[in-house]
Order: sequence, then C-alpha cells, then structure tokens
Amino acid sequence: MNTKYILLANDNTDQEAIEEAGSVIRSGGLVAFPTETVYGLGGDALNHHAARKIYAAKGRPSDNPLIVHIADTDSLQDIAQEIPEAARVLAEKYWPGPLTMIFHKKACVPDETTGGRDTVAVRFPDQHTAQRLIKSAGGFVCAPSANLSGKPSPTTGRDVLEDMDGRIDMILDDGASVIGLESTIIDMTSDPPELLRPGAITLQMVQSCVPGVRLHRAVDDQDGAPRAPGMKYRHYAPQAPLYLIGRDDAREDVTGRIRTLCEQAMRTGKKVGVLTCSENAGCYQGASVKILGSEDDEEALAHNLFKSLREFDREGVDIIFSETFDESGIGFALMNRLKKAAAGSAGKDKEP
Ligand code: TXA
Ligand code: MG
Repeated sequence: MNTKYILLANDNTDQEAIEEAGSVIRSGGLVAFPTETVYGLGGDALNHHAARKIYAAKGRPSDNPLIVHIADTDSLQDIAQEIPEAARVLAEKYWPGPLTMIFHKKACVPDETTGGRDTVAVRFPDQHTAQRLIKSAGGFVCAPSANLSGKPSPTTGRDVLEDMDGRIDMILDDGASVIGLESTIIDMTSDPPELLRPGAITLQMVQSCVPGVRLHRAVDDQDGAPRAPGMKYRHYAPQAPLYLIGRDDAREDVTGRIRTLCEQAMRTGKKVGVLTCSENAGCYQGASVKILGSEDDEEALAHNLFKSLREFDREGVDIIFSETFDESGIGFALMNRLKKAAAGSAGKDKEP
C-alpha cells in the first residue's frame, strides 16, 4: 500500500486534505492524525472492518480495545449508555482535552472496536485538525496511538511514517503533539470511578470535581489484574534495555552512579544513552545525552520522553540509563511510562 503523507500548511488548502482524509475513513481506510497527546491511527469506529485493519497495521492483539474519538460532547450519548453525572461533570470541565472515559457501550459500537468488551472508551481531543477530521469522517473515529505495538507512542508525523509507511492509507502531519504522553483514562463503569492510566489530567484534578475517584491498583503495581487490557502488554519501550537510577539519594549519588554505569558499559564497547534533566546534562561525557527539560518543568520532561526514546532507537544505542523525576503533576504519568519502559527491558540484557 502506498501511504500518502500530507504536511498541513495551516492555510485554506488544509480543508481539502482533511476532507480527503475524512472520505478515506468513511470508506473504511486508515488515516493517522495529530492530537494534543500523541498521534492516533484512525478508522471508522462504527465499521468493524476498520478496527480489524487497525489491529493488523499496528501488530496489536485484537483483545486490546480502541478509544473512540468524538468532536462534540453531545456525540457521547450516541455510543455510550448509563452515563453517570460524574462523567458529565468531568466532560464539562476537561473536554475537549486529554481525558478518556470508559462507559457501557451502545449496540452500534462493534465488538471489534472494543476488543470484545461491552464497554467503550471515549475521548474528545483538544486539537483543531483532529476535530475537523473526526467531523469529516462521520463523527466517530477509533484510534490507538499510531505506533507499532510495543514501541513508544509517536509525537510527530515523522515518527508515524517510520512505523506505518506502507501499512495505512494516509498520514496528516500537523507538527509535534503539545503534550507528548497519552490521555488519562478513567473507568466510569466502576463505583467509585477508577483511574487506569495517568496523563496530563492528574488524579488531583479529577478529584477536585469528583472526589471519590481513585487510582486503580494496577497503575503502580505490576501484579494488579489488568483492567485496561493495554496494561498487560509491553509498552513504550525503546529497542535498547532501559534502567532507571533512583533519586532517593543525594544528587551526586545519582549522577555518580549513572556515570559509573556508563563507564562500565562503554568499556565493553557499548553505545550508551542517558536520559537526564538540563541541570545534570554536563555529567555524562561520552554518552548520547538526551535532555528532557529542566528538573522542575514536568511538562517539558513529559513532552520530550517519547521523542527521546525514539531518537535512541534511531541512533542504535545499546543500553540506556535514566534518572528518575519528580512525580508531581504530569510527572506521575511521566514516571509511569518510564517504569513501564524499564519493565519492558527486563530480560533483554543482564542487569548492569
Ligand atoms: O491520548 C490517547 O489516548 C491516544 C490518542 C491517539 O487519543 N490514544 C491512545 O490509545 O493512547 P491506545 O490504544 O494506545 O491506548 C488506549 C488504552 C489501551 O491501553 C486500552 O487497553 C485502553 O485504553 N482501553 C480502551 N478501551 C477500553 C475499554 N473499553 N476498557 C478498558 N480499557 C480500554
Ligand atoms: Mg498506545
């Protein structure tokens, strides 16, 4: 398949491209598109053939359900039932935005879209191109992140091209995703509602409107039963094994320990990558150093994580050492992804 790559110009030629993309989705094809979190791989959420194609293009197990993207809050009632008042409150406050909510599904949503579940995850993204595409595609676009299964989520059109060239019909490139980590997911079918995946909308922000919401135990505990099927798959992992070096000790210790590990690895001829904050960037001579941002700028740190993991893949590093970061705000989601990337590394290489 020839994948058409369209770089949006942010002028009136874009409307034509978006309409073309919408008609590809309406006729059962796949289009990757930008959102404020990460790029999505979109198909018609109400067409079971489209969902099957998405699983095939991603190499994703078909029991891992897709998020249905809508472009106005009213559309929610067309696909979800038993919408609790708490969901209306959260939608009012955080939609459009990086918040996904899970509901009991209506019959019009095919089992393929929901991985066989009787629930449906719904999100209203806060990105102009995404909203225009969803409308043009008929109002309901199912989309996972547009990466090959197991790879870090794509935050630019180029990332998507790397993974999806030849596998999908079209890619709409509208620049880098503003947030860079996937949406917060809350299961509204449980009582109290449970946060299944942390993101830019933090637990505290959710609790400020719906006090009872709690963290599902599997978010931090790798042994918890996976509620979101995606929790059980290997995720966000760069090709090289990644090791997290904790910050519980003094800073000198962290940078010193990473430096020692780098030196050991380099002595055995390995190409080493380090994930760090700008304050510590000068500490790691000889390694490929990626600066996520200033240590107290959680948004920048989060924004640059997947981008940096993909850069390590392009450079072909053999091993990666990462500092840990403060878990306040979106920092909690950042550390959640880093821990998963590190867990995905187990067994790739012996512990350093
Ligand atoms: O920010 C995002 O959410 C991005 C953009 C493209 O919107 N999408 C995204 O989709 O991250 P994906 O498929 O990579 O991750 C969605 C997660 C998966 O772990 C999946 O298992 C879970 O949501 N999920 C989807 N529907 C669900 C359902 N009905 N019940 C439980 N978990 C569900
Ligand atoms: Mg994903």
